[in-house]
Amino acid sequence: MGARRGPPTPDMRVWTPTFVGVSWWRSVSAIYNVIPAQAGIQMRFNRARTVLLAFASLALAAAPLRAEQEPTAVPIVIKFSHVAAPQAHKSLAGEHFKKLAEEYTHGRVKIELYPNSQLYKDKEELEALQLGAVQMLAPSVSKFGPLGIKAFEVFDLPYIFAGYDELAKVTEGEVGRELLNKLESKGLIGLAYWNNGFKILSANSQLLGPDDVLGLKMRIQASKVIEAQMWALGALPQVMAFSEAYQALSSGVVDGTENTPANMYNQKMFEVQKHATLTNHGYLGYAVISNAKFWKGLPPDIRAALERAIAETTPVANKLARDENEAAMAEMKASGRTVFHEPTPEEMAAWRAAMLPVHDEMANRVGRDLIDRIYAATGHKPATQ
Ligand code: SIN
Repeated sequence: MGARRGPPTPDMRVWTPTFVGVSWWRSVSAIYNVIPAQAGIQMRFNRARTVLLAFASLALAAAPLRAEQEPTAVPIVIKFSHVAAPQAHKSLAGEHFKKLAEEYTHGRVKIELYPNSQLYKDKEELEALQLGAVQMLAPSVSKFGPLGIKAFEVFDLPYIFAGYDELAKVTEGEVGRELLNKLESKGLIGLAYWNNGFKILSANSQLLGPDDVLGLKMRIQASKVIEAQMWALGALPQVMAFSEAYQALSSGVVDGTENTPANMYNQKMFEVQKHATLTNHGYLGYAVISNAKFWKGLPPDIRAALERAIAETTPVANKLARDENEAAMAEMKASGRTVFHEPTPEEMAAWRAAMLPVHDEMANRVGRDLIDRIYAATGHKPATQ
């Protein structure tokens, strides 16, 4: 602790050793000084003084110890970093979690939210979490492949989920939990899934079927399954950080991309994409994660309170995401910047036929067994041949 200049403040007097000892001893002496100095009294006074001095020195020794043992007023800070825009549903979900977490821990935890890649981009944020520079993230599950957890890319298989109900059977079920547990081997802990939504394709040219994507450079997340899906369409996949997607689209470094309506709107991609097709071909969602060592080192009551806050935030986050995807679509249509195309049943069949072989193609990477378990959990096995 650095030396403090200036007079002691009233709170310092509570425990500053010299102050306690001297003032207390002065009071005791003062009492004895008013007693008449008669024979025998002085002797008893001396004995009493010795005893009191012993107590005083004990008090002096104990005083700094007491101060150290007092609960610190400094809260545990959790830096929660992510790449989505401040107005995006992930940010709103983060704010909801912050409110509950601070309330349930009675202020012993302070959640600091850092949206919009302001601290770290996609890849860096995972490294920062592993190193302990931040304590919480909610990255897209498509970004765990480069970390070595390829199984998460199962979520990227095109048309593996027919909708939100099927998806919930995995994210809220045994398979989802087992996938989160795999993060521990990388020093991370998986706490929950928060949805974004289903992806659509966009470009500056009309996309009526796979032939229209042929040769287009498409920005994707760092997932080998998404890469294979773009190759299957005849496109040229370009892995790029989320924070760089808008610039790459607007400058023509890439021709198109895939994303949810909410992301397309919040990142203003619709301003630089003339066409989009509502293929709804793939899921985009987040895993709320922490550094395992940090999380397990939290006092048990704090950890329980945070887990409760996350569990209660999850349904709120999922509702925010669905509402925002709908609102974003309405806003983008109203803006007239992008023309949105709803595929006909025949066109949809052509998109599915082009992309579904990726399930078998990527089975070795994500695990055949895992894919089959997802088909079983959802009760939906798309025709992949
Ligand atoms: C996100 O929604 O957090 C990012 C998704 C992307 O990189 O496309």
